[in-house]
Amino acid sequence: MSNAVVVGTQWGDEGKGKIVDLLMDRFDIVARYQGGHNAGHTVIIDGRKYVLHLIPSGVLRPDKVCVIGNGVVVDPFALLEEAEMLQEFALNGRLLVSNRAHLILPYHRALEAAEESRLAEGQIGTTLRGIGPCYEDKMARRGVRLAELFSPETFRAKVESNVEFANRILSKVYGAPALEADRIVDSYLAISDRIRPFAADTAEYLGGAVRNGRSVLFEGAQGALLDVDHGTYPFVTSSNATAGGACTGAGVGPGAIDGVIGISKAYTTRVGAGPFPTELADRLGELIRARGAEFGASTGRPRRCGWFDAAVVRYSGLINGLDTLAITKLDVLDELDEIQVCIGYRNRGKRLDSFPAGIEELRQVEPIYETLPGWKSDTSQVRRLEDLPSAARLYLQRLAELAEVEVSIISTGPDRKETVILEESPQLRRILGK
Ligand code: GDP
Ligand code: IMO
Ligand code: MG
Repeated sequence: MSNAVVVGTQWGDEGKGKIVDLLMDRFDIVARYQGGHNAGHTVIIDGRKYVLHLIPSGVLRPDKVCVIGNGVVVDPFALLEEAEMLQEFALNGRLLVSNRAHLILPYHRALEAAEESRLAEGQIGTTLRGIGPCYEDKMARRGVRLAELFSPETFRAKVESNVEFANRILSKVYGAPALEADRIVDSYLAISDRIRPFAADTAEYLGGAVRNGRSVLFEGAQGALLDVDHGTYPFVTSSNATAGGACTGAGVGPGAIDGVIGISKAYTTRVGAGPFPTELADRLGELIRARGAEFGASTGRPRRCGWFDAAVVRYSGLINGLDTLAITKLDVLDELDEIQVCIGYRNRGKRLDSFPAGIEELRQVEPIYETLPGWKSDTSQVRRLEDLPSAARLYLQRLAELAEVEVSIISTGPDRKETVILEESPQLRRILGK
């Protein structure tokens, strides 16, 4: 049996949820390893739509175990709300949340909102879920972990101390209202008994499962370009969304991972602020947004849309060690006469060899485009590669060449069944343990 990581290769919303749900018929366990309920993973099965934020997308397959790893930041109220939404899927006994995962508390949201308004024009455009400040507390070693929710005295003392600290910043730095520690502590302790059945030592669980030959699919949230180390810093999220995050965020060694599946849209989108070299701030961008229903699954914000950027996906291949790619939303391009693909960047006339680290440089780069013919026909019913129009096959082949990663899955619609899987791909066979 094999263990694999699924990662977003762009700025998130690549269709990870759909592909994880699809592939979970071949794995026993699905595990989230970073991020929190900033994620929005949409899965559509026979026309029924589910949007998952915190619980892994494999949950819709009733016999699979779902793990929320130590690297995830957990808002327990968001967790319960989502568990309730998924009641019909009987989560008891098959949803495990790491007792080492850090808790999001109301002061994280308050600090984030205050900082975003201080930044004004320069704001990151976060989801305002408290994700960033929760990871800040984790690194500052004052964070509160899930296990502490079950020791009321420790929990109260830590939260009181943190609220006192946060209140000083809220009032003195931001002039924002203070929060009441008692109310926070009482509300969290009041739900602790509902969280307790899910709490587990998930690293221990995963380690044992892997030793016993059970297979795990690690589900990345966000995307490589939103990774705190490798992404377009500071316009990133506060965790390691890249494949390496699976090791630290789930507590497994690198040797346990057999392969990495990257998910890319057939074009590019981004929500929130930050550089986006191939952005189409025109009618074409609007057309793609409308056809692709590009509105945030978590915040409802319109997503910025642009052409496929091979410089981004090639870089993503490097930092994730991608073995194979799933290209999603090919159908969204069905009506276009011509499609542009960015093959690299130029800055002040000079071709760049690597993806720029500096945000200012990335803002200035000029994408170099190649134009490919559109296929002008409906691909949504296609289930086999040979049934795709030749221009669509050519487009996919070119994306693979430019990104330097093979393509083995093609998605032509949001539903689980609207997918072409190239079962003969040696990489995919290896990763899926065949
Ligand atoms: P994730 O965050 O990576 O899981 O992606 P999201 O769920 O946020 O965004 C992807 C959106 O595209 C969702 O609304 C999906 O239902 C939808 N989607 C996924 N694959 C396809 C596809 O191949 N074609 C179309 N038209 N929509 C798709
Ligand atoms: P999925 O898993 C797209 C973006 C936010 C913002 C930045 C930081 O659905 O692909 P944060 O709240 O994380 O501190 O915001 O990251 N962002 C996402 N963009 N998809 C996501 O998740 C995202 N999660 C965060 O818009 O720009
Ligand atoms: Mg999403």
